[in-house]
Formats: sequence, structure tokens, C-alpha cells
Amino acid sequence: MTIRPILEAPDTRLRTISTPVDGIDDDLRALIGDMFDTMYDAPGIGLAAIQIGVPKRLLVIDLQEQEDEEGKPIRQPRVFINPEIYDPSEDRSVYNEGCLSVPDQYAEVERPAAIHARWTDETGAAHDEKLEGLIATCLQHELDHLEGVLFIDHLSRLKRDMLLKKLDKARKANRAA
Ligand code: NI
Repeated sequence: MTIRPILEAPDTRLRTISTPVDGIDDDLRALIGDMFDTMYDAPGIGLAAIQIGVPKRLLVIDLQEQEDEEGKPIRQPRVFINPEIYDPSEDRSVYNEGCLSVPDQYAEVERPAAIHARWTDETGAAHDEKLEGLIATCLQHELDHLEGVLFIDHLSRLKRDMLLKKLDKARKANRAA
């Protein structure tokens, strides 16, 4: 298990369209382990394989919404292999989204409030579920990554440029510190 470097905007590798996973083997299981290590370390609630430079249709999510008695988040890791979304609701919801590839920048993004999704998990089991709330938003955000799309692409050009400028400034300040 290894924490891998996360690609950050405007790295053009984040624009890659990821290709389907064609089988679950030890290499894939090791990659999934690295993705969870990297996501928990960041920390974040979702990570697509392309964010660590692997252009495969694979993502991991753990919303960590509940806490134990000590206030530590309870882990509920979920693996989505070759996920697909269909039948989005007309109802929309707005979340203040962030992304490990656009660190420390947040913006409100409007998306369908509910979706249906099909995917395979790490055991090879097929799922077909209706999802709503944060998991629906998170899955749509992560699926965008598989198409080379970032949440900032849903914003106006003005807002997007502003966020990218802030990101660049923060990076330079970090380097100087
Ligand atoms: Ni993201």
C-alpha cells in the first residue's frame, strides 16, 4: 500500500478519457489499495484512478459521514469499477464541491439530485442502484474525472479562471514558504 502523488490542475493528464477495466486481478487490487491510502491521507471522500495518473474507469469513495464515540470518521469504503450513470432526476441539488486535484478551492455546482448507477465492485459483484444525496453528487463528480472533466468546468469561465489563479497563487506561496 502506497500513498501516490495526486495530479493537480492544470495538469493535462487530468483531461484524459479513461478506458474500461477489463478484469479484476492482483494489480487492480493493489491499485485500489493505493487509491484508498492516497484518498484517506489527503484527506478526501472520493478519488478517480486518473487523479494518480492511471487512465482506468475506476474510482473509490468513502463519504465518512458518521463518527465513532471518539469523533473519528467511520470508514465505509466503496469501489466503483466501470461505473455508468443513467436516468438522472430533473430535480437538481447544489453542493459546495472541492477536488483533490484542485486543492483548497471550492465552488457551488448544480447537478441532478438523484441518479441511477451501474457498476462492478472489487469482488466482481454487479450493482444497480438509485442514489441520492451526497453519494449521488460525489459519484457524478468522480465520473466526470473519467471523462477528463473537472468540477471547475461546470462554472462560468470567469469563476473558473479565478479559482485557477487562486490555486496558482497558493502554490507559489507554498513554494516560497
Ligand atoms: Ni475531483
